[in-house]
Amino acid sequence: MTKLTQKDVLRADQFTKEDVDLIMETASGFEKALNKGKVLNALRGKILSTLFYEPSTRTRLSFEAAMHRLGGQVISVAEAKSSSAAKGESLHDTIKTVEGYADVIVLRHPQIGAATEAAAATNKPVLNAGDGAGQHPTQSLLDLYTILKEKGKVYGLTVALAGDLKNGRTVHSLASLLSLYDVRFIFASPKALRMPEAIVTQLKGKGVSITETEDLRKALATSDVLYMTRIQRERFKDSDEYDRLKGAYILTRDMIANAKENITIMHPLPRVNEIATDVDTYKGAAYFRQAANGIPIRMALLALVTGKA
Ligand code: CP
Repeated sequence: MTKLTQKDVLRADQFTKEDVDLIMETASGFEKALNKGKVLNALRGKILSTLFYEPSTRTRLSFEAAMHRLGGQVISVAEAKSSSAAKGESLHDTIKTVEGYADVIVLRHPQIGAATEAAAATNKPVLNAGDGAGQHPTQSLLDLYTILKEKGKVYGLTVALAGDLKNGRTVHSLASLLSLYDVRFIFASPKALRMPEAIVTQLKGKGVSITETEDLRKALATSDVLYMTRIQRERFKDSDEYDRLKGAYILTRDMIANAKENITIMHPLPRVNEIATDVDTYKGAAYFRQAANGIPIRMALLALVTGKA
């Protein structure tokens, strides 16, 4: 039993530093075991239900792979239209049904707050795999894990978050999580896609240093980590506005020549065109390693919330 046993994972700002340390240590232990080729069975006899009402490759597959790696089993709804949501069933009723089938529930949903609503309907742990433009807490944990692995530390780093900061749930969660450490933020975005004022105010209230800019090159010059994000077509009501903003930031290999030495480039993926593919061979391009880190982090979360870590 740990503090996280039977707990939901709904928002990044729910975590204390102690919680995060436990998750990082547990993930690191699982990663080492996997690297030694160990076959694990801590979750044998347990069932994970993944309900994805928005598209996903990384989050869904890494949660499912994590469950398999721990010897557990998975039942899955890959899209809302293949579930009873398409017949008008409420999220509450779906979750009340699924709690009879599974020990832990992972939900991705287009509505902000959907995971919190789901958690209120069940005593089974609910893990938020992204709620619209709200939060993506498990992504932020794997992002932190990636920074720790790539940089060897978090304290004292300057971290630039760039792109669609208004609608980007990954950056909303990551900003909260990194505020537990002594980091300096640079928020680089077009004016229309600035980090929500409520998040900026919350961070400043904790004494976090924040510089806001529209200039990606300026952010590159002083950052230890650049976290690029996609301008998300699916979050725009006005397609003309999307077309105007979609190419706002494109990171190219020649721009890295003017970046701070040894800068780490991250991206939650999927990318569209915001990182040119010739950046992929830069040694600090960490985004595919970042995606792989979803496995140990999600193994840790599944094991901790089920009381098996
Ligand atoms: N990073 C992330 O959430 O990716 P998916 O949309 O593929 O799950």
